[in-house]
Amino acid sequence: MDLFSHLDVTSGTAISELADACLLSASQVQKLVSFGLSVGLIIQRDEQFFNSSDAQKLLSRHSAHNMCSAVEHHSRHVYPLFGQLADSLQSGKPISDRLHLSSAQSNTDEFYAELDKSENDFGVFMAAMNTFSTGAGTRIADALSTRVGSAAALRILDLGGGGGQVSIEIAQAIPQAQITLIDLEKATRFARAEVDRNGLGDRILCRPGDIFSRLPLAEADFDVVVISAVLGDWSHDYQVTLLANAHHHLKSGGCLVVSETLLDDDLAGPILPALMSLYVQILTEGGQNFTARSLVALLSGNQFNHIEVQLNRAHGCRDTVLASKAPGAAALASAAHADKV
Ligand SMILES: C[S@@+](CC[C@H](N)C(=O)[O-])C[C@H]1O[C@@H](n2cnc3c(N)ncnc32)[C@H](O)[C@@H]1O
Repeated sequence: MDLFSHLDVTSGTAISELADACLLSASQVQKLVSFGLSVGLIIQRDEQFFNSSDAQKLLSRHSAHNMCSAVEHHSRHVYPLFGQLADSLQSGKPISDRLHLSSAQSNTDEFYAELDKSENDFGVFMAAMNTFSTGAGTRIADALSTRVGSAAALRILDLGGGGGQVSIEIAQAIPQAQITLIDLEKATRFARAEVDRNGLGDRILCRPGDIFSRLPLAEADFDVVVISAVLGDWSHDYQVTLLANAHHHLKSGGCLVVSETLLDDDLAGPILPALMSLYVQILTEGGQNFTARSLVALLSGNQFNHIEVQLNRAHGCRDTVLASKAPGAAALASAAHADKV
């Protein structure tokens, strides 16, 4: 990241200058530059080096569209654990207690509890989540506008809203939306700062709370409940508890939106959710990416009906599943795949 950020602010740089900027020796930085050249991230003219347009956009900290926080999260919290994937598969357990965060002293194998011990690590994760979730809120807002309309005032509850990216995009796309975001305390501090930075403090309320317990919010008070990139992280019992909470807070006939990256029904891909399945295997107990079929079955078994699956993979974005709160008894599900899967 130092390398690409430095290349971004110079117009052609020599190896010796790059070595100084990255606090590396010339021979070490030469190895990085060789790699960058080989995959097209760096361009060379004479003895001068430049960023490619992709590197400039995605890998320089000075770019508004950079994904540096996602790279940092992966290098701190994910890559160290992937080496122990075989252990995790054999034991059937996550291995996030081996994260070795700055605050050490592990007594939990729960990823979020582990991250919660360090403000800095939690902040890195929240910034990464906001990068991963970019675009998901806009897709949700599009889907909501079609399903429930955007004329009337909409009260929206975002359960496990993380760093606020999804709520912020929804608020920007639906001016009448009033959103309550619930997450762990460190996340809500991060989200509140992002919400304020976007001038949305009067429309998005960030409240600390445990999404698996009864929340201090009125029953049947929300038109929409959003659960984005949360459900698939948890085992079946937790999923059922979370859906019961969503059901409890939705108005009659209200809309549940689940945003997840879905596997094909035959589990043979695409590559992103297949990789993410391994990722949740090492980080969480019982987490697994859904297929459209398994998610529809979960929702219909938990008092939601009129279920509609919108695959967004053509947009490189998380998929969106919408459902209505069914009154009382088990609901009937009808899966209408938006793009005819
Ligand atoms: C993968 S992130 C998704 C964040 C956000 N919804 C998004 O799409 O960007 C999962 C979120 O669930 C939150 N979370 C985990 N356990 C929680 C709990 N018991 N109560 C509230 N939030 C929780 C985490 O802090 C994290 O922000």
